[in-house]
Amino acid sequence: MYQFRVVWKKVGSEAPKLRPEPLRRLLSYDRHTDSFPVSEFSERPKASSRQVTKRHIRVVCQEVLDCFDQQYSQELGSLWASARAVLLDRSSWQYGVMLNRFSTVSDVTQILHSQGFSTLQPQTEVSALTRDHPSKVAGSGPKAGKDSFSLSPADFPVQPDGNSQAPAEDPQTRPSLLFPRSSLQCYIHPQPVRFPSQPHRPGQLKQYYLLNAASLLPVLALRVGDGERILDLCSAPGGKALAIMQSATPAHLCCNEPDPHRRQWLARTLESFLPHPLHSRVAVSGQDGRSVGNLQTEKYDKVLVDAPCSNDRSWLYSRGGQQGVKRLQERARLPELQLQLLRSALSAVRPGGVVVYSTCTLSSAENYSVVETLLKESPEAEPEDLWEELALPLSKHFAFNPAGAGHDAQTLHKPSPQPRHGRVSSYQHRLGILVVPQPGRTWGPMFLSRIRRTG
Ligand SMILES: C[S@@+](CC[C@H](N)C(=O)[O-])C[C@H]1O[C@@H](n2cnc3c(N)ncnc32)[C@H](O)[C@@H]1O
Repeated sequence: MYQFRVVWKKVGSEAPKLRPEPLRRLLSYDRHTDSFPVSEFSERPKASSRQVTKRHIRVVCQEVLDCFDQQYSQELGSLWASARAVLLDRSSWQYGVMLNRFSTVSDVTQILHSQGFSTLQPQTEVSALTRDHPSKVAGSGPKAGKDSFSLSPADFPVQPDGNSQAPAEDPQTRPSLLFPRSSLQCYIHPQPVRFPSQPHRPGQLKQYYLLNAASLLPVLALRVGDGERILDLCSAPGGKALAIMQSATPAHLCCNEPDPHRRQWLARTLESFLPHPLHSRVAVSGQDGRSVGNLQTEKYDKVLVDAPCSNDRSWLYSRGGQQGVKRLQERARLPELQLQLLRSALSAVRPGGVVVYSTCTLSSAENYSVVETLLKESPEAEPEDLWEELALPLSKHFAFNPAGAGHDAQTLHKPSPQPRHGRVSSYQHRLGILVVPQPGRTWGPMFLSRIRRTG
């Protein structure tokens, strides 16, 4: 019945064997209690009412806050005070509603509109966002009304990707003919209105997924095209994998997650949102991401590294001082892990392909410095400027760190290589862009960087 190809591999063991497994085997998760282990990631399964009560009484971990105060006031300057205010006020947090193009969503969009939600869209001409991409499957996709825009990577004002070498597809199976049109649609509200999460409905696909809207930016930066081979190296619980599948129909999407519990959660997310005809295009694997570059060298057109990181929002609410202190102690090891994952991704992508690196922390050591170290050691890696492509068009919704604002010059600039295209002022933007939560634009933290493999 289930056709995802699941690749099992123990971390640290020899090359993986590809073994088809029924997705059911991954789904030992208890649907009634939603009893997955608590994740460090914000996009979690729906909490039971008891868990909700607990969440409301969560207190800030003072050790983590002290550490952030010291580090981020230096790195972000005056932006930190307002970011701090947002992070400490959970009632101001916003959630986006990403629609599922494989489900009928007209009833949901009606409710969203009636409640004052609108579609996240860049500040560009509406006409540019509603290019003619009519649904090729009558009655199977969301109807694009005049208030409904698709947010597609192809809609952003950038040069065409001249290096793209998507595999030629069999016209019989061209995704545009088989599936509803690709459209990444995310509804947001100007106030911190919380749309309810959707319960599991046996035999039915979910209509939407709740997430921090900044999570969509790395997917937009990936600019996935139909027929491409994509690797989501750190995939659970699967929010960005779902966003990838909304924005295009890849020939193959490999969702990798080494943690077994989180892999179950990932598989369940995919099962709840993707129709059966797509299952053969999506695989779930369980490798240590650091070894994937050696095992699958140059196999992919695009790789997303949504790396394990400090996760500022979640860490601030660490349970008890001990968990916070332990996390802070282990924090120093994260940049090395992130760098290894990024190296592995660069090996796994073909020459001409791109790697997008992202985190949900403000920490410069896990963001700019990781990218900068990779660039120093990899002449074949070329950073691409996301400032004009994403930050400027989306600045109405997201607050981005302006280049150089309070940035820790010691870590960023001293050992840095010369900017390769001579635009010194935008060098920090070429390393990556950072969404900093601010009052009224509470999305983030999210750092993203796009690196092209040139050789
Ligand atoms: C930020 S989360 C990913 C969130 C996910 N991309 C999404 O959008 O839902 C980072 C993930 O990396 C996983 N991870 C940790 N170490 C890893 C490794 N060595 N290789 C690959 N993934 C790893 C964690 O278990 C975690 O699920």
